[in-house]
Amino acid sequence: MSRLTGILFLMAVALIFGAATAQDQQQRGKEVYDYWCINCHGSFPGTPGTQALEVLYRGLKPADLEERTDLPAELVRLYVRTGVSIMPTFRKTEISDEDLEALTAYLAFDY
Ligand code: HEC
Repeated sequence: MSRLTGILFLMAVALIFGAATAQDQQQRGKEVYDYWCINCHGSFPGTPGTQALEVLYRGLKPADLEERTDLPAELVRLYVRTGVSIMPTFRKTEISDEDLEALTAYLAFDY
């Protein structure tokens, strides 16, 4: 193998593993979301988060967090750790830092 071929090979391997990791992280983020968030933020009746965001944005933005494309990573981290109105604070024993990163990767546009 020439040196260039070797380097290209390593770059291809890094790309494939990098993509797999990002995908795994998003999948984990969806699991965390379905466990901790969807009961308040889902698109089905009786979800107070969705109802509150409907009132707040009056149709200017989707009320369902999973449909948002403008959520910054910092906002997701902040709200999960500090809560807002009836949204509770999530402790690290409930959502670990690693799971919070996965959740952020799943929800935020700029992760
Ligand atoms: C007990 C219900 C409840 C749970 C559980 C909950 N939320 Fe919320 N969340 C709310 C409410 C209500 C609001 C709107 C507060 C307001 O009036 O601004 C909100 C707002 C937010 C916002 C701000 C959106 C915006 O545009 O202002 C984010 C981000 C958010 N929640 C993320 C999450 C995530 C991620 C989880 C899961 C870890 C979660 N929430 C779990 C009730 C909840």
